[in-house]
Amino acid sequence: MRTLLTDGRLTLRRWRRDDARALLNLAQESAAEIGPWMMWTDAVTDQAGAEQFIADRLTQWDNGDGYGFVAVDVEGRLLGGGALGHFNRQHRLGNVGYFVRTGERGRGRAVALSRLLVLFGFEDLRLQRLEILVEPANLASQRVAEKLGAVREGTLRHRLLIHGEPRDAIMFSLLPGTVRLDSAAVAPGEASG
Ligand SMILES: CC(C)(COP(=O)(O)OP(=O)(O)OC[C@H]1O[C@@H](n2cnc3c(N)ncnc32)[C@H](O)[C@@H]1OP(=O)(O)O)[C@@H](O)C(=O)NCCC(=O)NCCS
Repeated sequence: MRTLLTDGRLTLRRWRRDDARALLNLAQESAAEIGPWMMWTDAVTDQAGAEQFIADRLTQWDNGDGYGFVAVDVEGRLLGGGALGHFNRQHRLGNVGYFVRTGERGRGRAVALSRLLVLFGFEDLRLQRLEILVEPANLASQRVAEKLGAVREGTLRHRLLIHGEPRDAIMFSLLPGTVRLDSAAVAPGEASG
């Protein structure tokens, strides 16, 4: 299983313990934009919180419960991150999540990093379906899912609990062979992978 994925411009790698300071910096820069949709920034408010976040990601990786990656540019600067998790082993399903630091938004980073994550899910983990759950109000994330080529399947009621509040979520899905590394996402069935 790979611990480093790249499209030549952006690299995803496994979190390292010495990423803690840069993660804290990213969280402080981006908490107002990430916090409404993802809860992890609540816990990454100081160095200890950042170290714990990374330790948890590494434990999940070692246990096979989740595969969290950090996205870096050619200079090694943290751009964002993402993870595969919430696996259903019997049916070989998983969930994709992603975030991009505030100063790097709007440059295609989320689509690029998510594409690498999806390929990891299908090629390395041999999953046969990946899901992306997005709140109806999270238009940027819906656009990312669409640009990946994910299919919008419907809205699931109270599918998420965010900050203790039940939220509806749009279910997007991806199947193997629908995402390619070297091009924009293509419609299901059009690519061989
Ligand atoms: C969602 C997120 C990852 C997008 O990151 P990004 O690097 O800016 O995304 P990209 O540049 O790859 O693509 C964003 C697309 O959404 C569009 N977009 C951005 N904000 C939008 C909005 N408010 N309404 C509609 N579309 C929007 C952009 O125009 C772009 O589409 P385009 O290329 O067709 O113009 C980022 O905003 C983020 O980290 N949000 C907080 C965490 C989050 O919501 N994660 C997903 C949880 S399901």
